[in-house]
Amino acid sequence: MDQYYLHAALDGLHPGTTYYYGVGHEGFDPAAGQAFGTIGTFTTAPARSGERFTFTAFGDQGVSYHALANDSLILAQNPAFHLHAGDICYADPAGSGQQSDSSVYDARTWDQFLAQTESVAARVPWMVTTGNHDMEAWYSPNGYGGQEARWSLPGNGPDAKNQPGAYSFVYGNTAVVALDANDVSYEIPANYDISAGKQTAWLDKRLGELRRQRGIDFIVVFFHHCAFSTTNSHASDGGVQEKWVPLFEKHQVDLVVNGHNHVYERTDAIRGGKVSKPVAIGDTVHPEKDGVVYVTAGGAGRSLYDFPAPDSYEGHEHNVDSVTTWHSAKGGGKVTETVAWSRVRYTGYSFIAVEVEPASSGRTSTLTVSALAETGERVDHFTVARKAR
Ligand SMILES: [Fe+2]
Ligand SMILES: [Fe+2]
Repeated sequence: MDQYYLHAALDGLHPGTTYYYGVGHEGFDPAAGQAFGTIGTFTTAPARSGERFTFTAFGDQGVSYHALANDSLILAQNPAFHLHAGDICYADPAGSGQQSDSSVYDARTWDQFLAQTESVAARVPWMVTTGNHDMEAWYSPNGYGGQEARWSLPGNGPDAKNQPGAYSFVYGNTAVVALDANDVSYEIPANYDISAGKQTAWLDKRLGELRRQRGIDFIVVFFHHCAFSTTNSHASDGGVQEKWVPLFEKHQVDLVVNGHNHVYERTDAIRGGKVSKPVAIGDTVHPEKDGVVYVTAGGAGRSLYDFPAPDSYEGHEHNVDSVTTWHSAKGGGKVTETVAWSRVRYTGYSFIAVEVEPASSGRTSTLTVSALAETGERVDHFTVARKAR
């Protein structure tokens, strides 16, 4: 069966402006009186970097009651944009890319997903990147045909055709970089080095440019496989740690958001694989001197994983000195390690809301990260601070 997806590109838009739109077809005029309820709205990014805003993020959503509940909570945050860190809809439940059996692929899952998402995505830019389940084995050669058909992503990354999930954009004083971690994953290697090193070179260059750009205070990077997580399912990806973590440290990235592990987990500030500064719930971190905090926000809706250590989250803190976990090695092995950086662990459906408070030059801009459970209860919060430029 053929499926058709229509994309309408708009240009000449003004910054900081709310637009109204309708989607019609022959015999249906959305501007006609009785159809007015189908009119949608969106607001473009502001011209100046001085306005406060919120954005949200999660990964590993799929189609479920929990996924739908998270969508409703996200809409209630009125975010400027939403980040989805991959494993978007699970139309390919196998998740091993070209090594999977393509007969398990069910394109109808995309239809369910888009219906589930429409209430938010009709007015909130829904920015996705590609996880392992988004290398749909049905599509050749990279498995990204499903995303290319259904999304219009910025296409300004190292290779828009082969890596639709790698791109960057700026909103106010915050730059966001999306990466395709299938390219560097040691754990699930179907698309390993698909960019022949180009994505990592682009990342280094792009982070440098953004760091130098006037008006940008914060750089947020999001991608699928975890740099640092302790779950019993996927833990940390050694490829991400070797290829990208040194660049996050070099350019003092302010926040890294991952999915892949279906939980919420948050690290202390890390440098060189070790805790450079403990960051308790409610603390403030200064990435210029403290290191990088990594958030796993993979509890968007797919079935949950578990941890080798007790949950420890806001109001239910069970701090442990260390957790024994592993990172995947090149070739697929596991390297066991005992780590001290796992600061917050929450086994539950959840997402993050990030409130960005810009300051005038020389004063302190802040990102306040809150992890919210499906019940709306806050399970973690911390602040990232940086002198405004
Ligand atoms: Fe997943
Ligand atoms: Fe995944």
